[in-house]
Amino acid sequence: MTKAANETALPLKALTEELFLTGDLCDAGLAALISSEDEETRSRLAARARETTVANYGADVYLRGLIEFSSYCRNDCFYCGLRRSNAAARRYRLSKEEILDCCRRGYALDFRTFVLQSGEDEYYTDELLCDIISSIRGEFPDCAVTLSIGEKERASYEKYFRAGAERYLLREETGSPQHYARLHPPELSLEHRLNCLRELKGIGYQVGCGFMVGSPRQTPKDIVCDLRFFQELQPQMIGIGPFISHKDTPFAACRNGTAAMTLRLISILRLMFPKALIPATTALGTISPCGREEGLMAGANVVMPNLSPVGVRAKYLLYDGKICTGDEAAECRCCMQRRIESVGRRVSVSRGDHPDFGCRQRIKKAAPESSRAAS
Ligand code: 5AD
Ligand code: FES
Repeated sequence: MTKAANETALPLKALTEELFLTGDLCDAGLAALISSEDEETRSRLAARARETTVANYGADVYLRGLIEFSSYCRNDCFYCGLRRSNAAARRYRLSKEEILDCCRRGYALDFRTFVLQSGEDEYYTDELLCDIISSIRGEFPDCAVTLSIGEKERASYEKYFRAGAERYLLREETGSPQHYARLHPPELSLEHRLNCLRELKGIGYQVGCGFMVGSPRQTPKDIVCDLRFFQELQPQMIGIGPFISHKDTPFAACRNGTAAMTLRLISILRLMFPKALIPATTALGTISPCGREEGLMAGANVVMPNLSPVGVRAKYLLYDGKICTGDEAAECRCCMQRRIESVGRRVSVSRGDHPDFGCRQRIKKAAPESSRAAS
């Protein structure tokens, strides 16, 4: 049950405490915290969120190696540099071997999760994707494969799952249907996207959703819709980052989202979803030089360094000014470790499953032993 309906007259400090203690607020309370601009509220939220993160995860920060394997996309999202109408976008595709090479480099650098991300590119048939997924799982059985390849049929999601993909990232981008229609062309609908997320969850994936912060004409009310959707779906991962304009899109002249609002929302998410895996995203590091460190201090516990070949990185431009496009994977890895340790945290060399999933695996593994002991 949520506290959606109540009106609030509580001051921001009391709202922060109530959120910390109960994990929920009424819509008006959430909107008040989302739109609060004072430094005191931001730092109070961050302190409570840090406390909650440490209680659930200790100092651990999980690494996800991001492999951006195709910059082709059939969609035309208004905010995205890879949209099909952007004739200036530079397009590339990685072969199965090139993707496996990224994983090999990543494995040597302690990555135990590979995130395969692309535009919606039909060149990669289900058969080819399953071959890539099962080859990665075959060569790296102790690693998780996460997909971030957009909206597909349920039957396709099932095939990828059977091939060994266990996690799926699909941001809803905004939880409000009206706002969704301002960010996307008419052929895309929020309803379809949310259904994809429900299907993924039903199949058994660890699911990640999320939204852009400060996208054009987004209101605090729109963000409350996202938060209510998360309460319904209970995703294992929640990724948010500031909207950043891309010069060759219809939103070229729009104002960017801010680091302060993104950090406040990371903290709110941590307090509402104490066990969620929440990344300090590259977009946050792009609008603010220490954005990712601040994200970790505000309640995030995941970072996603880039494992894509250096030659293609600058071509995967969702927004202008993206950082880390010139660095080798090893440099990114060292840089991330420094940043993580600079805020008193440590890199975890593990798959970093959601605690409930790890638990289920341990129970499964433990079962044969306990039955042996009993017999
Ligand atoms: N600014 C910030 N984030 C963006 N994304 C796409 N375009 C932009 C942009 N201009 C995000 C979307 C998508 C994720 C892969 O990147 O949220 O889901
Ligand atoms: Fe498809 Fe951005 S419009 S990846």
